[in-house]
Amino acid sequence: METQAPPASFTVIPNRHPASEEERWLAMENPVFGKVFTDHMARATWRDGEGWVDRRIVALAPLPLHPGAAVLHYAQQGFEGLKAYRHEDGSIWLFRPEANAARLAATCRRMALPEVSEEDFLGALEGIVSADRNWVPGTPGASLYLRPFIIATEPSLLVQPANEADFLVTASPVGAYLSTAGDGVSIWVSRGFHRANPGGTGEAKTAGNYAASMLPQREAKEHGCQQVLFLDAREDTYVEELGGMNLIAVRADGSVVTPRLGGTILPGITRDSILMLLRDEGRTVEERDIALAEILEGLESGEIVELFACGTAAVVTPIARLVSDDFDVAVPPREGESVADAVLTRLTDLQYGRAEDPHGWMRKVVDAPEG
Ligand SMILES: Cc1ncc(COP(=O)(O)O)c(C=O)c1O
Repeated sequence: METQAPPASFTVIPNRHPASEEERWLAMENPVFGKVFTDHMARATWRDGEGWVDRRIVALAPLPLHPGAAVLHYAQQGFEGLKAYRHEDGSIWLFRPEANAARLAATCRRMALPEVSEEDFLGALEGIVSADRNWVPGTPGASLYLRPFIIATEPSLLVQPANEADFLVTASPVGAYLSTAGDGVSIWVSRGFHRANPGGTGEAKTAGNYAASMLPQREAKEHGCQQVLFLDAREDTYVEELGGMNLIAVRADGSVVTPRLGGTILPGITRDSILMLLRDEGRTVEERDIALAEILEGLESGEIVELFACGTAAVVTPIARLVSDDFDVAVPPREGESVADAVLTRLTDLQYGRAEDPHGWMRKVVDAPEG
């Protein structure tokens, strides 16, 4: 059971010009991921010697940022991604926000930024979700995607840790994730590019990792693939993760294997949750180095029967094909319910309050309306 720390209080200064009900309804009808934003944002400011001050929920607005702000030049930044879910009774819940708080704190340490405490992290989330509760969709599978982030704002071109930073949270309604089970996505295995080096920033959730993944992601698209899979930088041999998701393989004997976290892979909260649910079911779960050759041979021999990607945004995405310059290997379709489908149902039932929550992962942030 994770801690339930009392959240910090964020002063609410309501948006005086919120979207009308009709505008909101139109915006929420079919939102493109991350393109629609709610009326508010959470914000707190940090200055060296003063600490975190000015915790507030304010109208969403462009940021006045000095052109010399360190984040614009040296990407001193960290971010998170999690969702708020509306349950059938109208109450609103977060999934394992304490885990996102801990990961952001780790990112802050790696990026020499001031740490955002769990209390501030939860206070900002509760503040914005409460202020924008009408933006949390009630349609099946839809949710409010929350984007906490911290940026170095000090105007300084010196390459050194900034002495001013801002922590913000924006919120975006996102639509139902449609399972592609049955066919699944095609994955481009990047050979020339790596995502992370030992000792680098691979396990931090920081902007530069994603900037560096855009060219290989474009390469994937040019080869008709939806996502890119990275191999380890040291030996160019072991599978690591996708541009924005972790990778899990299912073997014919029902056991599950996934790349171990070793500093170059983002410790996904969906990954961790799925591994726990699979262990709860009594499956053997291995976290270890997995050579690309082991996966390709396993698919050919039938030893590996399923591959899927997982992350907050798309939850669980079955993989249908692995492609690179020198191979194109299909994952044979599964007969009956796949592990990916079963775990997607298990996880989303829990997130939407349709199933019990044995690990105490859900945290209520807005009560059900009365009456
Ligand atoms: C590189 C990378 N790997 C994995 C994940 C999955 O992490 P989580 O399950 O916490 O969303 C993400 C998404 O945040 C990611 O950006």
